[in-house]
Amino acid sequence: MNVADSELVESILLDEGFKKALDINLADAIFVNTCAIREQAEQKVHSQLGRYDLIKQKNPDIIIGVLGCMAQNLKEDLLDNRPFVDIILGPDSYRKLPELLNRKNKDSKSLVDTKLSRYEVYEDLFPNRKNGVNAWVSIMRGCDKFCTFCIVPFTRGRERSRSVKSILDEANQAVQNGYSEITLLGQNVNSYKFEGLKFLNLLEEVAQVPGLKRIRYTSPHPKDITEDLLLVMAKHDNICNYVHLPVQAGNNRILKRMNRTYTREHFIELSKMIREILPNVGISTDIIVGFPGETNSEFEETLDLMEKVKFDSAFNFKYSSRPGTKASEYDDKIVEEEKKNRLQRVINLQNQHTLERNRLLIDSKQHILIEKESKLSSDYWAGRTDSNKWVIINKDNLKINDVVPVKIIAARGVTLHGQLFKKVEAA
Ligand code: 5AD
Ligand code: SF4
Repeated sequence: MNVADSELVESILLDEGFKKALDINLADAIFVNTCAIREQAEQKVHSQLGRYDLIKQKNPDIIIGVLGCMAQNLKEDLLDNRPFVDIILGPDSYRKLPELLNRKNKDSKSLVDTKLSRYEVYEDLFPNRKNGVNAWVSIMRGCDKFCTFCIVPFTRGRERSRSVKSILDEANQAVQNGYSEITLLGQNVNSYKFEGLKFLNLLEEVAQVPGLKRIRYTSPHPKDITEDLLLVMAKHDNICNYVHLPVQAGNNRILKRMNRTYTREHFIELSKMIREILPNVGISTDIIVGFPGETNSEFEETLDLMEKVKFDSAFNFKYSSRPGTKASEYDDKIVEEEKKNRLQRVINLQNQHTLERNRLLIDSKQHILIEKESKLSSDYWAGRTDSNKWVIINKDNLKINDVVPVKIIAARGVTLHGQLFKKVEAA
């Protein structure tokens, strides 16, 4: 979401005649686009701001701006404790940036705008993207779900959706600019609603954009995944066989306390339906350990759910208290040591499951989209299967953005190794 928002900000500034500095030391203004989802994300920004403070001490004319969720959330704190910050803009106020930059010269106090909007979807703005493979296309903003642990509804405001036309225009343009893959993006992507059209209708329209090789979306809420949506995914080859299905926890009392609005039984059934309708689908999840009041046996139910669903991958987090959320007021917090311990157990189990799921692909034929050089060696490319698994293959004469058939030959750690299919057949 932040990458997409930064691309929007870049586009707003370029349209007004600003230029991107290629070196931070040559910049007249520096902006940090921030995330408030967990304390760790905020700490990263605090240490970055420490570095910008030093830059400003050397160059007092430089403009420092804090944008996004932390600006929204920690406005007072930033004003009190970071006097070198000139501009503070929440996620619905990016359009103000050029005006504030021009005004800044006449004013010495911080300029702040953190009003949330019921309407702002940056409808007419196409992000300024780097060259690459995947284009993020924002389709809705905000969240009305109010999970009790989550700061997003407070920092990003209410749900609102962008028009189908503007999304399709942007998708077409991205394909013309050479992107092979589009990821439809929203805090609650499958809550999309526009003039009677739902997320599945939009997905179906996007699937028909000429030349678009792959479509992904993130992040959906399990409550809003329907059979109809899965059938649309099954019908279109270019919609990737991958669902991110954040479970958060495996115990019903904790799920209720989190306000997740589904039960573990519903979730397990849903994952079965997904695997039935979309054979070989990749399913990933988000898990939070150590939510306030989570007992040991309730935590064990998260491990048990993992055993039942066998996720292909998972993003795992220790609960992080976010001031202002309902859960931050619960006084039965779990101690750090215990959270750490639970996190490690989740990670260990997931690593086993990832390997187990990946091994099922050995000897199979998969199509991968070549995305970047492998970190292992400059002789290899890394690309993803449509089920969202990374595969390493020899570079041969392949190029970034090619979609090629490969035979999977090995599964190591979280990565698969493959060989170009033609080569295998010839051997
Ligand atoms: N503590 C830990 N993890 C959180 N997430 C959201 N809020 C918190 C929090 N307060 C996680 C959830 C969500 C993902 C994007 O971040 O798992 O799905
Ligand atoms: Fe946060 Fe997602 Fe829950 Fe919305 S649905 S409150 S973004 S965790």
